[in-house]
This record gives sequence, C-alpha cells and structure tokens, in this order.
Amino acid sequence: MHAGHTVRVAMTHSATRLISPDTFAALTGNPVVVDVFDEPEPGQIAHIRLAQEADLILIAPATAHTLARLALGLADDMLTTIALATHAPILIAPAMNPAMWTHPATQAHVQTLQARGVEFIDPTYGIMACGDEGWGKIADTTVIVQAVQQCLQRTQDLRGVRMLITAGPTYEPIDPVRFVGNRSSGKMGYAVAEAARAHGAEVTLITGPTALTPPAGVKVVRVQTAQQMLEAVQEALDACDVFIATAAVADYRPERPLSSKRKRNSQHWTLRMVANPDILGTVAQRKGNRIVVGFAAETDKALQHAQEKLQRKNLDLIAVNDVLEPGSGFEVDTNRLTLIYADGRIEPLPLMSKRECGERLIQAVVSLLHSRQTRREA
Ligand code: C5P
Repeated sequence: MHAGHTVRVAMTHSATRLISPDTFAALTGNPVVVDVFDEPEPGQIAHIRLAQEADLILIAPATAHTLARLALGLADDMLTTIALATHAPILIAPAMNPAMWTHPATQAHVQTLQARGVEFIDPTYGIMACGDEGWGKIADTTVIVQAVQQCLQRTQDLRGVRMLITAGPTYEPIDPVRFVGNRSSGKMGYAVAEAARAHGAEVTLITGPTALTPPAGVKVVRVQTAQQMLEAVQEALDACDVFIATAAVADYRPERPLSSKRKRNSQHWTLRMVANPDILGTVAQRKGNRIVVGFAAETDKALQHAQEKLQRKNLDLIAVNDVLEPGSGFEVDTNRLTLIYADGRIEPLPLMSKRECGERLIQAVVSLLHSRQTRREA
C-alpha cells in the first residue's frame, strides 16, 4: 500500500474535522501530528525532524487557505511549519470551489509557490460537494501517485553527482564606482541550478552580481569579476563531475582600473580594455571525465556559431539561443533554446519558461551521464 515508502501524516485542524488522525495513524503505522507543539517522539523536535527526513512532501488536498499560508511563509500549524523548514520537493494537489481556485488571489499564490519550485497537480473539472461545477476537484488518486513517483525518481537521478554552475554577469571595475557589465539577470543559471538540485545533485553555484535569491539547498559563491569567477571555478573544479557555464562573462575588462573616482574634466575618455580569461575554455582544457556544458547567446547564424563553439571548446553539449528573438535572452523569464550535442544531434526546444529550460537542460545532462555509464559498463 505504501509502495515501499515510509508515510508520515501532518494534518491541519480543519482536516481533523473530516477524518480522525487515528485513521491515518492506523493506516501508516506512524503517529499523526497536527499542532506545532505535538511531539510524539520524546527528545525530538517533530517539525524539524519531519522536515529534514522527508524525501518529498505531498499536500493533498490543499485548500485555498493553506495555499495562501504557504505562499506567505506562515508557520502556524505543523503542516505549514514543516513546509517552511524542509528542503525536500513539495507537491501540492489543490481542491476547492471553482470560484476560489480561479480567484486572482489564489492564482497569485500558486504562481508565487511555483516560482519557488513547488509543483502543482492541477485540479480537474467536475461537480463539487457544494453542487457547483468547474475546475477545483482534486486530481485522481492515480494521477497524484504517479506525480509522487515521478518526482521521487527525479530526485534520485543525480544523487551523488557534483555539479558546478556559473551564472549571472560579471562586473569589471573602471573605478571604485563604475563598472563594465552586461544585461544578464542570472535567471537562466539560477534555473539550471534549481533543476539540478531538484534532481538530487550537489550543486555549487558561482554567481556574478544578481538581484535573485539563490535556490534552497545550493552552495553559493559570490563573485564580481571574471578573474574572481575563474579562480572560484578552478578551486571547485576538482570536486565536480559536471560543469555548466551559463554566466555571461564580460569578454573584456578595463586594463587599469582607477583607484579613485574619475572626475568629469574632459570631453573624451578612452578606456583601454584587455581580454578576460575564457573560463569555459580553461575548464574544457582540463576536463578529464567531466561533462562540460556551455551556453551560446547569439545574434546571427546562431546554430553555426554554437556548433563551432562546441568543437572549439571541446564541450559535450551547448545550449544556444538567439538573444534578438522575442522572449529569448537577457532579463526575460522565457527562453527558446536549441541543444546541440557533441555527437551532432540537434534538439530544438519550444519557447518556454527559463525554469522549464533549466529542467530540460538537466534532463539532457542526465541522459549524457546515463549513456556514458552504459558505455562504461558495456
Ligand atoms: O564565446 P562565448 O562568450 O559566446 O561563449 C559562451 C560560453 O562560454 C558560455 O557558456 C559562457 O558562460 C562561457 N564563457 C566563459 N568565460 C568567458 C566567456 C564565456 O566561461 N570569458
């Protein structure tokens, strides 16, 4: 019945009015918790223990009120406290009146939670307990179980794989207040890091300056310049199996940054720039058995340039996008990637959220690791 899993149940107070906690205790063979102060195992803080032990948290059925509490990060009962304290993936199967489900407040909470990596098993169309008809019925049990199994499988894919990811722009100082930079927001790299983490990888994210909150459970190293990024990468490289370069590294930096702020005392100012190190190229030279993945943001002849880059930098995979295409490239939340593999395969992906692009790229890395392992075993 449990498909080999240990099942622990946390109920909201409202849920206990519909089903007795004793029923779940009997079904699961484990005590059920409701209140934040429920401590069924002496000497253990239940909400932390349950949050840390869980491989996955399923909230089903989730009411509009619980979605709102989760979105706000409230922790006023055992369920919401565990959800706030966990690093495990969270799956939610909502169930509510159709007017409540489609209400902008509920939908905004859904979006907030999705942006944090929470997955939804969408409600279906049907007749509600109140007699209303519409979207709001909890998904079929088989669909929920399938989603749980898929999610658990995914969280195992990259268990034990150490992944190093660069993200964001680099800032190259001109003087103490000015810099040369670019429009990279870091969204693509952070999405890749989040997807890798969701697949169970140990992730180190080396990031240039961004306004983003790094995904939970990821080790973050913050840098400013390309030189600092290279040093951080070199330090972490030995302990990594996969390197993914999503950072938009500044190709040039001012040769001699000024030590004090330059005053506006002339009509012209010529900055002499010098080439920055190619981080991806440097890694590719001492790549060993690692899988190395690059990105190529192009403005013309995208595929051709990316293929050349793949070969020149000795990559296993390159993700190319045309930054001039609407919805692609810098600062936006979407991207249209084409994946080019070292064996010549070309996989064009549709326009999708950067989060989904990250997921697809990580799936491609999983398949590369699998085929490498199969070759080794053959
Ligand atoms: O040659 P180009 O800059 O277009 O190459 C893009 C790829 O190389 C990206 O994966 C980027 O992160 C990486 N790169 C790098 N160091 C640089 C320039 C680019 O790692 N100095």
